[in-house]
Amino acid sequence: MTYIEWRPEFATGIPDVDHEHRELIEWINRALAACGQTGDARATVTELLGEIYARIAAHFALEERVMKSSNYDQFALHKRDHERLLDELRDIMDDHEASSGAIGERLAARLTPWFSDHFRTQDARFHRAGLTGA
Ligand SMILES: [Fe+2]
Ligand SMILES: [Fe+2]
Repeated sequence: MTYIEWRPEFATGIPDVDHEHRELIEWINRALAACGQTGDARATVTELLGEIYARIAAHFALEERVMKSSNYDQFALHKRDHERLLDELRDIMDDHEASSGAIGERLAARLTPWFSDHFRTQDARFHRAGLTGA
């Protein structure tokens, strides 16, 4: 199983923000570990995906509130990217419900690059503009 690893370039330099991003990665890795288990780990994966969705949605909502209230110039672009990830995550959850196959590789393949890109580019820019919203 391919896990998402924290890399120094993900860091925004704001401890609270980086802490929360690391936590999101840990939750995703927990789901990936459950996907890789033999036996019936389906219910665990379902639960973890639900937890990840809730955490990510809350994290994004907070960032969006901060961006909106400070008239952040790339608010629309950043929000679109958040919506894209939530859509992808919902697709993955639907696939997991609909099929009996393992979704681990797909989860890792779809979330790893997206997360690295979003953290490294849009989140870093947003947080370096002095806006925390961790
Ligand atoms: Fe973020
Ligand atoms: Fe973001």
